[in-house]
Amino acid sequence: MANFCKSVFVFCVAFYVVCAKHEVYDGHTLYEVFVKNEDQAKFVNGLETKIPVDFFVYAHTSRNGQVLVSKEQRKGFEDLLTSGDVEYKVLAENIREQLEMEERILAQHKDDKSNRFALGVEALSYNHIHRYEVVDDYLVRLGNAFPELVTVVSAGQSFEGRDVKYLKISTTNFEDRRKPVVFVMSLLHARDWVGLPGTLYTIDQLVLNVTESDLVNDIDWIILPIANPDGFEFTHTDFRFWRKNRRTGLTPDNSCLGVDLNRNFDIFWGTASSNNVCSDVFHGPEPFSEPETQNIRGIFEAYSDRIELFIDLHAHGSMILFGFGNGQLAPNALTLNLVGVNMAQAIDRVKWNAKPDYSVGNIYYATTAASGVASDFAHALGIPLSYTFDLPAIRGISAGNLGYLVELAFIRQAGYETWEGIKVGARIVRDFLNR
Ligand SMILES: *[C@@H]1O[C@H](CO)[C@@H](O)[C@H](O)[C@H]1NC(C)=O
Repeated sequence: MANFCKSVFVFCVAFYVVCAKHEVYDGHTLYEVFVKNEDQAKFVNGLETKIPVDFFVYAHTSRNGQVLVSKEQRKGFEDLLTSGDVEYKVLAENIREQLEMEERILAQHKDDKSNRFALGVEALSYNHIHRYEVVDDYLVRLGNAFPELVTVVSAGQSFEGRDVKYLKISTTNFEDRRKPVVFVMSLLHARDWVGLPGTLYTIDQLVLNVTESDLVNDIDWIILPIANPDGFEFTHTDFRFWRKNRRTGLTPDNSCLGVDLNRNFDIFWGTASSNNVCSDVFHGPEPFSEPETQNIRGIFEAYSDRIELFIDLHAHGSMILFGFGNGQLAPNALTLNLVGVNMAQAIDRVKWNAKPDYSVGNIYYATTAASGVASDFAHALGIPLSYTFDLPAIRGISAGNLGYLVELAFIRQAGYETWEGIKVGARIVRDFLNR
């Protein structure tokens, strides 16, 4: 979104007062793109690095693509699709309207306290996508209330200096090395809001509402709810669809900024991502150039010999993905697939009827080529089961599938059903894979 970002940035600075929220998305159109074969899919997905458009879903022969395109780019985008004989349709003429709707719906329930637990700690509600400070404070409160079970750790700071905290949940203070460690993370991509209830629900079920005590007793947990706090806050205050972190200084005038953290890990770095700072898949100046990815690397390095399962929660598309992002299959690919299918089936058993079944597959074959991905880095480091989950997309707000937006009633369900999948994976590593 190079030129677009630039013009909007200048506009916002100059006319700060009139630049209402979501105005930057005024006239942005969401397209659905239909590809007939792999060549067309390559062509369409390749547009990401050629023109400033934003892929919500990569096009695939088995799945329609979704691309957000600014008013200025619409004609060029449509012409390119036509030249490639690719069919498309408009899902949402002006996505700003949907953004405003989401905000109105979520705001109505801000103060609902429906998730109270009688344990001395007020849990966060599932009627809101909570802001960074609220979540950060919640982690600290849990640590204070349950010192025997919960340890709050700072993984480091974000680019803008926010503390990136994670919880260690363990009945044996992480000292029993026979226990496997399961690591669950969300919000590496700022706009993937639906992942947050996934980590928060996991925390609640391990600390406040323990109904299956074997999961707490037999396993040590690392839960990192907000991996990219700067980007996440920016999605609340300015750009709902911001994906990257907020690194500045990459261009002389900061007309484009931010690094795609899930392309910045040191695994096939730079081979299937963008060199262009303005791109949403900009991989950064070098592997691990970003404090946010360094923070996560620190966790992997500290516990890599004990982490048996890593799950990175993203949005969207009801998919469980495993490595590698270049299509190379790991030696344990069959196990990855089998465990992935088991987790997917557990989610599907309790999912909403309106949502599609989960699909399971390799990143490259199920979506598109990607390098520098967190779950690939973890896998290459020796963590045997490593996945990226794409949680279900919103449906039903309007004609189309507006992907990243969150529907109020689904927030709790997203936590609940994702936890059903995580539990299955956790028990498999306990029973079969413990080193
Ligand atoms: C506590 O856990 C049970 C079993 O998983 C679940 O049915 C219930 O909704 C949970 N309660 C809360 C408040 O999350």
